[in-house]
Amino acid sequence: MRDPAIGEILVQGDELNRRVSQLGTQITADYADRSPVVLVGVLKGALFFLADLMRRLDVPCEVDFMAVASYGSATQSSGVVRILKDLDAVIEDRHVLVVEDIVDSGLTLQYLLRNLRARGPASLEVCALLTKPARSKVELEPRYVGFEIPNRFVVGYGLDHEERHRNLPFVATLRQPEPGGGSGADW
Ligand code: PRP
Repeated sequence: MRDPAIGEILVQGDELNRRVSQLGTQITADYADRSPVVLVGVLKGALFFLADLMRRLDVPCEVDFMAVASYGSATQSSGVVRILKDLDAVIEDRHVLVVEDIVDSGLTLQYLLRNLRARGPASLEVCALLTKPARSKVELEPRYVGFEIPNRFVVGYGLDHEERHRNLPFVATLRQPEPGGGSGADW
């Protein structure tokens, strides 16, 4: 049964598959002479995208994870980021590709890139499944982008609202409940 909290589907499952496959082909070509590449997944949202993308790569690659928490409200980051889990690997002189589920304001990514760059990687690029150009607060262009989406609150394929809905096989808007119990409007 469809969860009434889920609104409009913005990216269908088959579109996700197709685009992840294209990104895999592009990254494979770009990293042919820059391997092994260390994929750095930013927990938790990037989990599904990273797992699917990595299986589309045909170059030697490794995976590592960071977990960060942004000080801010539940739906808006502030740019002040706390590292909850750091990389296991030393990335000095390594080729690093940061894999994010969404770049919203860009503040989290801006912090992460500064932090990782200071460790002296041989190269540092970003692959983001989703970007929201209308919300961007920083000059920051990920090298690889899956989809540009409008300024809506989205869940699914790793993205959550209060830890729910990450398991949806598509990306959809969330419906905000109406006070009084109506069906709600898309966020
Ligand atoms: C999301 C996303 C990015 C960040 C983007 O993580 O994965 O890391 O927000 O927001 P920004 O561009 O405005 O900084 P979130 O804090 O929701 O954690 P999660 O991945 O564990 O759900």
